[in-house]
Amino acid sequence: VVLVVDFGAQYAQLIARRVREARVYSEIVPSTMPVAEMLAKNPRAIILSGGPSSVYAEGAPRLDRAIFEAGVPVFGMCYGFQLMATTLGGTVDNTGAREYGRTPLHVSKPGSTLFEGTPDEQSVWMSHGDACSAAPEGFTVTASTDVVPVAAFENDEKKLYGVQHHPEVMHSTYGQQVLEHFLYRGAGIEPSWTTGNVIEEQVEAIRAQVGTKRAICGLSGGVDSAVAAALVQKAIGSQLTCVYVDHGLMRKGETEQVEKDFVAATGVQLKVVDAQERFLKALAGVSDPEEKRKIIGREFIRVFEQAQADIVAEAEHGEDVAFLVQGTLYPDVVESGGGTGTANIKSHHNVGGLPEDLEFELVEPLRKLFKDEVRMVGQELGLPDEIVQRQPFPGPGLGIRIVGEVTRERLDLLREADAIAREELTAAGLDRDIWQCPVVLLADVRSVGVQGDGRTYGHPIVLRPVSSEDAMTADWTRMPYDVLAKISTRITNEVADVNRVVLDVTSKPPGTIEWE
Ligand code: XMP
Repeated sequence: VVLVVDFGAQYAQLIARRVREARVYSEIVPSTMPVAEMLAKNPRAIILSGGPSSVYAEGAPRLDRAIFEAGVPVFGMCYGFQLMATTLGGTVDNTGAREYGRTPLHVSKPGSTLFEGTPDEQSVWMSHGDACSAAPEGFTVTASTDVVPVAAFENDEKKLYGVQHHPEVMHSTYGQQVLEHFLYRGAGIEPSWTTGNVIEEQVEAIRAQVGTKRAICGLSGGVDSAVAAALVQKAIGSQLTCVYVDHGLMRKGETEQVEKDFVAATGVQLKVVDAQERFLKALAGVSDPEEKRKIIGREFIRVFEQAQADIVAEAEHGEDVAFLVQGTLYPDVVESGGGTGTANIKSHHNVGGLPEDLEFELVEPLRKLFKDEVRMVGQELGLPDEIVQRQPFPGPGLGIRIVGEVTRERLDLLREADAIAREELTAAGLDRDIWQCPVVLLADVRSVGVQGDGRTYGHPIVLRPVSSEDAMTADWTRMPYDVLAKISTRITNEVADVNRVVLDVTSKPPGTIEWE
């Protein structure tokens, strides 16, 4: 394992991903972890991430010098670089000479492990205030910028390396190469980590954890739960039962996809709970978005817990149903402060007829993976593309894409319009360019139109194609007009009661991606 020590910037996750792209397994640890504990993990190398602090700021995170003396190769980036410099006796000045963004780097290659085979002048991404003016003893300075005399240093003998810039970001043109030079040449690691390894490793781990007991997994139709279920199924086969709650708010074909394609691909035992009536009834007369969300969430938990209770009751030894599978991903684990923690989280369920003291232990086989890796695992497990490459879709489904009250007729109408939009986006090859494209029905709005020889008074459909990296911010996608035209023509022709299609041209913020 390569450890990425997180100094509190959002960059640690990106570094960990880049290391894995170099086919070397990496994990993130908090900078507050004692060095002895880091070393106890037997890392092949350690990377110190950037961070928001100045090394001179009060309370700025520090590192025990021992980390540089254990014989483990270390690569410091940005804050990690400055920390390495000051800890080992170099000089970092608070010069006020800030560099931010794309910066030309002058490389001095003789004796450089990091920059070998890259150009003498290259563009890198900088983001720092303090600047290193003298490298620690025994280090060779291998790069500078117009304002920073020491922008990279290397000590091949001790296997210690540092760069002021951020090699992990795309704007550092040779960043991945520099990182790989550290991993392969500096640290002497062979690239061998693949998602295939993950499958083998997880299958073994799941078998060891679950033993002869039984597990339950909720399927939402999304990528994460599907891949988690497929992995667990591969490990323990018929000891797993999946539950799919059909709340009637899914898009056209999605329930069938889970019922047929997913089952066909995995052979999983699936319990489908048809709760459409129940959800419609609970949503009747409600048009406030927050209230709708609450109702859907509440009903979902009730139905799911009842299904769990039924499975426990039907099992020969009910108490053997002891595990709950969840598709938790690595970013969730890191963000909730979990790092590489192995705490055994228990989830308590004593609703709906479950024995009072029954607890499910969690099985989370995707805890170490990033989203793109989850997709690769899914692909390798033979899941259909429609599931593995699925764009995000909200849990409350179409319930929050009908502005106004949710009724069966409106759901059917929206399902048709949405299916047309998705079909045309796929046909135009735009699926990978667009983050997601909610299709929204303005159920309480009517406008006048003319179709055939007659006047119509129908509803508008909104197209909301967005581009995004993480859904936190988004921009509306500049889609080709002819694709928009085709979607508009087809929806107004084929979906009764819709006589207008409009395009949402709002970024996020100020708009959100969904309309409710
Ligand atoms: P907003 O509308 O907040 O959406 O810009 C951001 C992203 O989250 C999705 N979304 C949800 N996902 N349950 C989910 O699992 C929800 O309740 C929910 N609400 C919004 C939305 O589709 C977008 O990708």
